[in-house]
Amino acid sequence: MERLTGQVALVTGASRGIGRAIAERLAHDGAAVAVGYHANRAPAEALATELRARGGQAVALPVDVTRHEDVRRFFDDAEARLGPATIAVANAGTLFVRPFVEMTAEDFETGFAVNTRGTFHVFLEASRRLREGGRIIGVSTNLTRLAQPGFSLYQASKAAVEQFVMVLAKELGPRHITVNAVSPGATETDMIAPAHHEALAREIPLGRLARPEDIANVVGFLASREAGWVNGQMVGANGGIV
Ligand SMILES: NC(=O)c1ccc[n+]([C@@H]2O[C@H](COP(=O)([O-])OP(=O)(O)OC[C@H]3O[C@@H](n4cnc5c(N)ncnc54)[C@H](OP(=O)(O)O)[C@@H]3O)[C@@H](O)[C@H]2O)c1
Repeated sequence: MERLTGQVALVTGASRGIGRAIAERLAHDGAAVAVGYHANRAPAEALATELRARGGQAVALPVDVTRHEDVRRFFDDAEARLGPATIAVANAGTLFVRPFVEMTAEDFETGFAVNTRGTFHVFLEASRRLREGGRIIGVSTNLTRLAQPGFSLYQASKAAVEQFVMVLAKELGPRHITVNAVSPGATETDMIAPAHHEALAREIPLGRLARPEDIANVVGFLASREAGWVNGQMVGANGGIV
């Protein structure tokens, strides 16, 4: 169903994993899509080419979300090529795992750089540019509700994203822009080594890790007109872990 015809979506971290699936889903639903990549240009270019071949509008653009100028340029370039942004997905993220007592002071910056500062930059540009009906979507994790040894910085960096979502939803409500996040559980991407898959799958009631498409389906809904009354929410997509 072409629910997003006429919409312009920007997705960070769309070269692979969940972000790639989100870009594909939004393009499938009819949006013109800016495929943001950082280190992996070739797969992002290939995805944009594929989406255009399927009849969509798509462009691959570089963006390091840790740098505000980069994110501003990403929005400028995407808007110049595709039109004014109406959907922004702050998906780019990195995993940082280390027991607390072993951390260095520098680890704090590393743990927050992409997940929190990067999301902040995307939300900042989106909040300034999107008009009525706009959709801002972050990506958190189900781990913010499941204290996991070794994951303190990762969980904290994503908890900050959730607080941005809740406050921004209230601030942008009067402009009729919704702000939400998807909270995935363990998902089959480069972020989780295959050696961990079996043990993780045993903890998930539905018996397997998520596929990137499972998460992208939720983002597709949050981006849609039908989700207009969903605002300030963290929508879990985790196969039943509570
Ligand atoms: N996989 C899971 O189990 C899981 C669970 C919960 C939440 N999440 C969240 O879901 C999101 C996507 O994760 P994933 O599993 O798809 O990860 P992934 O496969 O490791 O991909 C990470 C993506 O982030 C991009 N990225 C990394 N550093 C960046 C930077 N400085 N600027 C811009 N982009 C950058 C990468 O771009 P390049 O490849 O171009 O460098 C890549 O596209 C993340 O926010 C993650 O925290 C994942």
